[in-house]
Amino acid sequence: MNMDVLKETNFSWLGKKKKGKVRDIYEQGDKLILITTDRMTGFDRLLAHIPWKGQVLNQISAFWFEQTKDIIPNHVLAVPDPNVTVGKKCNPVRIEGVVRGYLTGVTDTSIWTRYSKGIRDFGGITLPDGMQKNRKLPQPIFDPTTKEDLHDRTLTKDEMIAEGFITAELFAKVEEKSLALFKCGQEVSAQRGLILVDTKYEFGIDENGVLTLIDEIHTPDSSRYWYLASYEERLAKGEEPEYFDKEFLRLWFKEHSDPYKDAVLPEAPKEKVLELSRRYIEIYEQLTGKTFEKNSMPIIERLEKNLSGYTIG
Ligand SMILES: Nc1ncnc2c1ncn2[C@@H]1O[C@H](COP(=O)(O)OP(=O)(O)O)[C@@H](O)[C@H]1O
Ligand SMILES: [Mg+2]
Repeated sequence: MNMDVLKETNFSWLGKKKKGKVRDIYEQGDKLILITTDRMTGFDRLLAHIPWKGQVLNQISAFWFEQTKDIIPNHVLAVPDPNVTVGKKCNPVRIEGVVRGYLTGVTDTSIWTRYSKGIRDFGGITLPDGMQKNRKLPQPIFDPTTKEDLHDRTLTKDEMIAEGFITAELFAKVEEKSLALFKCGQEVSAQRGLILVDTKYEFGIDENGVLTLIDEIHTPDSSRYWYLASYEERLAKGEEPEYFDKEFLRLWFKEHSDPYKDAVLPEAPKEKVLELSRRYIEIYEQLTGKTFEKNSMPIIERLEKNLSGYTIG
């Protein structure tokens, strides 16, 4: 079977394209046409194309933007296609609103790594000694990073202000909104049998100076989700929570190549790609309570049709 995956678009009739890791972005004056592709990245490079991933991400974001619109205005102007959001172009805020609800993670900057090295103070909250990995934090922690070209850094609030990334006033607003969004995210997820573990928000300032939520929200790319039903039992047995994860595909690349060095990577096994595709769809359905609609029209053709109203010139 020839899988229809959306690898890339080249719609010159939509304007000039900017290629993000996952999205193709066309700028049209005060609007952005954000096409979410099926690209999956890891180790800062393209690893694979996952059928339906772009649609899942775009539709999960649309679901959450709608759920949270009373907390903060967002960039969404229209969702003209399952893979597309037309957004209001905003001036990006230079910090990312990371919020952590659980003591977990594997990377150097994760809260579990830092905790196990003896760090206890996180953004004004002091954690007790002796906490078990993957346990719920006494309260969600705002743990922002800078937004930079090379790599984002976990600076303190005072450092971010001193280095000119943000003003104290805007920092306070971003913190308040991030925590409110996360609270809503955890409550709604719990009703659907999921734990929203941690996430990252991007903000922008709109043409009227209003703080606006941009990019994506609570997608499996920007967030970690665990299954609620098995959480307690697994932790009691000393096991890891049951998670939705792209990690197994990243692990495969680690075992079969050197993803930091090799010029060309091997192709991911088809069954692993399909398994990941299935998991993306499953999390969409569990979260939204809707059936995932697989349109039979070739994606490129469908995009051309649904975006014809946005032709420039
Ligand atoms: N409303 C918006 N205004 C300005 N920039 C935005 C808006 N929404 C998303 N973006 C930016 O568009 C890009 C989305 O594409 P993506 O593939 O996710 O990029 P990245 O590789 O930076 O993660 C991001 O750089 C994001 O910051
Ligand atoms: Mg992104």
